[in-house]
Amino acid sequence: MKEGSRGGIDLVFLVFPASVILSVTASMTRYSTLIAFMCPCGPNYTSVYPREPEPMKELRELTAKHPWNLMTTSADEGQFLNMLLKLINAKNTMEIGVYTGYSLLATALALPEDGKILAMDINRENYELGLPVIQKAGLEHKIDFREGPAMPVLDQMIEDKYHGSFDFIFVDADKDNYINYHKRLIELVKVGGLIGYDNTLWNGSVVAPPDAPMRKYVRYYRDFVLELNKALAVDPRIEICMLPVGDGITLCRRIK
Ligand SMILES: C[S@@+](CC[C@H](N)C(=O)[O-])C[C@H]1O[C@@H](n2cnc3c(N)ncnc32)[C@H](O)[C@@H]1O
Repeated sequence: MKEGSRGGIDLVFLVFPASVILSVTASMTRYSTLIAFMCPCGPNYTSVYPREPEPMKELRELTAKHPWNLMTTSADEGQFLNMLLKLINAKNTMEIGVYTGYSLLATALALPEDGKILAMDINRENYELGLPVIQKAGLEHKIDFREGPAMPVLDQMIEDKYHGSFDFIFVDADKDNYINYHKRLIELVKVGGLIGYDNTLWNGSVVAPPDAPMRKYVRYYRDFVLELNKALAVDPRIEICMLPVGDGITLCRRIK
């Protein structure tokens, strides 16, 4: 085992041979849910899983049976988001990219009773898969789910002058649109509020040489993620902090 490695990575080192580890990049924690299920040491290996709230555990286990489960937010990132939202006393939030709702649930659990999440996804079916868990936890009233692409909703909010109204926005959807989302979200988040862009390490591909072997979809979105990372690094309207949690999350704090 590699001492000091992060989240699900520990589990990878315990189970897979070196050749597989090399093909699985350092940012593989996104797949920690899957790995936790395959690992004989079980999901109690890190301090993340024993602390996971019961509804999040239930949703994670339910999601693990879904064919697209690799899309889900990892347990360590869910724990991070939950803590972050409490630290900033977030009340009005937005999420782009819900899938079965793991990060949504982490958010809903952190918000006060009158907190709100505007949640958008093109796929309602997956949201409805996790919805019973959210309902059982008594959190549905915090969620305003909109089925469809996020961009038109954002454009409408700009038109309706919702400027500066969000404490926190989590973006975990179509990577080729992150730059376009940023143009709108920077107006919609309040000064002092946060936008979190997920997958900014993009399976570690952002630090790999361009000719390194990569899966087709990783290569395709890599350029968009690189473009976003460069744009955020020079954007004077924000302070940024890029964290190697999950597949990498870049926090942007609006300062003007
Ligand atoms: C990586 S998953 C989100 C994972 C989720 N945050 C979680 O915790 O499980 C990405 C989601 O973005 C959604 N998506 C893709 N394009 C979108 C768009 N244009 N607008 C809104 N959602 C979109 C997909 O349907 C998918 O459910």
